[in-house]
Amino acid sequence: MSNTRHFLSLLDLSADELNGLLQRAAELKQLQHNHQDHTTLKNHVLAMIFEKSSTRTRVSFEAGMNQLGGSALFLSPRDTQLGRGEPIEDTARVLSSMVDIIMVRTFEHEKITTFAEYSSVPVINGLTDLEHPCQLLADLQTWFEHHDSIQGATVTWIGDGNNMCHSWIHAAQLLDFKLNIACPEGYDPDTTILQAAGEHAAIIRDPATASRDSNLLVTDVWASMGQEEEQDDRAGVFEPYQVNRELMAAADSDALFMHCLPAHRGEEVTAEVIDGPQSVVWNEAENRLHSQKALLEFLLKG
Ligand code: CP
Ligand code: NVA
Repeated sequence: MSNTRHFLSLLDLSADELNGLLQRAAELKQLQHNHQDHTTLKNHVLAMIFEKSSTRTRVSFEAGMNQLGGSALFLSPRDTQLGRGEPIEDTARVLSSMVDIIMVRTFEHEKITTFAEYSSVPVINGLTDLEHPCQLLADLQTWFEHHDSIQGATVTWIGDGNNMCHSWIHAAQLLDFKLNIACPEGYDPDTTILQAAGEHAAIIRDPATASRDSNLLVTDVWASMGQEEEQDDRAGVFEPYQVNRELMAAADSDALFMHCLPAHRGEEVTAEVIDGPQSVVWNEAENRLHSQKALLEFLLKG
């Protein structure tokens, strides 16, 4: 069990491995667009456990496995014994004796680390309350479609210090760029994650100051999955953190805009920005497919 590579965090990859994976993602994108065969994972089976909703993650993993010649199973707690209290340790042992790789989307990050501990096959984090590393693969692939390097660049995170923010902090640490984090007080990212990034990440409360000369503005929903009942309170607190034309104007004139989606136009971002010329959100979404295919190959074939 112990030699199995998991992808629970972006930091499970070295910078070299991440760069290699992103190169392969770009190749896989070309192969896919040219309708060229790339069935490198024939007969491999991916099991996907979703304890939260998903559009992009589910479809990209399922379509990706099919395109690589394998197959994917969608499992929800509603229809499996997980929802009736079967321990995750037991589920991990059983599933990993039947399939080649497992993706889990859940709430507490500890659930996925426990799952991985008891799994004899690679486990992929498809989002927890703490991290969303698969999204970062797609976001970084998208960045490199516009730039040769990210080293020394400035990226600004606007909004909640949430799972996406944490994975962006990891990216800054791994690839040596600067992440400014503009979040309201009380919504800071995890202190341990922030401190581990050292000078690569810093909180700058004022969104306009944090965005100044930035090469990329990134935001996300104000209330994540599981925080629905906080939506109204958060809407008041986060109002000054909307990414709008004025905020984009504070950034570099070539700055890109990213959002992992789903988005709420008129809340965290205006329609003008997300549907405007600096937005690369559709590429980000498409690149979930290509970058995760590269991840599946990496974890299954090395
Ligand atoms: N960005 C993202 O993970 O989307 P889904 O929740 O639709 O999977
Ligand atoms: N922060 C969001 C990301 C959704 C892809 C959430 O956890 O709901």
